[in-house]
Amino acid sequence: MGKTLLELSSVDKVFSTDTLETRALCDVNFNIEEGEYLAITGASGCGKSTLMSVLGMLDVISKGTYVINGQDVSILSANERARYRNREIGFIFQSFNLISELSVEENIALPLTYRKDLKDTDIKRRVAEALEKVEMSHRAQHFPSQLSGGQQQRVAIARAIAGSPSILLADEPTGNLDSKNASSIMALFDELHSDGVTICMVTHDPASAARACRQIEMLDGKIVRDSLVKNVVNNSVA
Ligand SMILES: Nc1ncnc2c1ncn2[C@@H]1O[C@H](COP(=O)(O)OP(=O)(O)OP(=O)(O)O)[C@@H](O)[C@H]1O
Ligand SMILES: [Mg+2]
Repeated sequence: MGKTLLELSSVDKVFSTDTLETRALCDVNFNIEEGEYLAITGASGCGKSTLMSVLGMLDVISKGTYVINGQDVSILSANERARYRNREIGFIFQSFNLISELSVEENIALPLTYRKDLKDTDIKRRVAEALEKVEMSHRAQHFPSQLSGGQQQRVAIARAIAGSPSILLADEPTGNLDSKNASSIMALFDELHSDGVTICMVTHDPASAARACRQIEMLDGKIVRDSLVKNVVNNSVA
């Protein structure tokens, strides 16, 4: 068994408006171990993105506990949470979410500049290494609008991995890409996983889900299936 990275226990997430209360997550219990590669699937509206926002500390839970690397993050202040998120979580979105006014290398460097533990020389090195990993070094000075969708997603992945987070969270990372670009992003995920990166991805695409080692299916805010499809962690037989 690997080291437990994330632990959700009895987690509910309720969205309340004046007229409506939506229980988007309902008694969710699950752990993610170091080196795992998970795919989360389920019908539209079942709570996948809500679960990712909770895992990524972009949103707080309504009930239960959430522990990352032994730290109960449900008790952190908003500032502490932001700092912890920046160090522990790499987030990849369907719509890339790059900052259009910043160059490729500035986009990747930005989250690192908030880290007190990194010097300028560390940041430069990390940006260069991340760009090399995603094969985008030749576009370091470009701006997002000058890149294809597939290239923008590669830059977003570089931004997510440059800080060496505990986990990479990807919500429909290939949802805006054609099939050729989608499969090259999935090949990059395979490579990152074999480098030891822990990945949790939401996908509608059964072929993408099949690449993961563990598959989780959600229905109406609950996990209804959690199965180990390949008994592999970090590409070595567990
Ligand atoms: N900020 C919010 N305020 C109110 N309700 C919300 C909010 N975010 C999500 N919900 C509701 O929570 C439920 C789960 O939404 P969520 O976005 O997690 O679904 P999903 O599984 O990601 O769907 P999709 O596959 O379409 O992306 C839905 O009923 C949605 O309307
Ligand atoms: Mg969603």
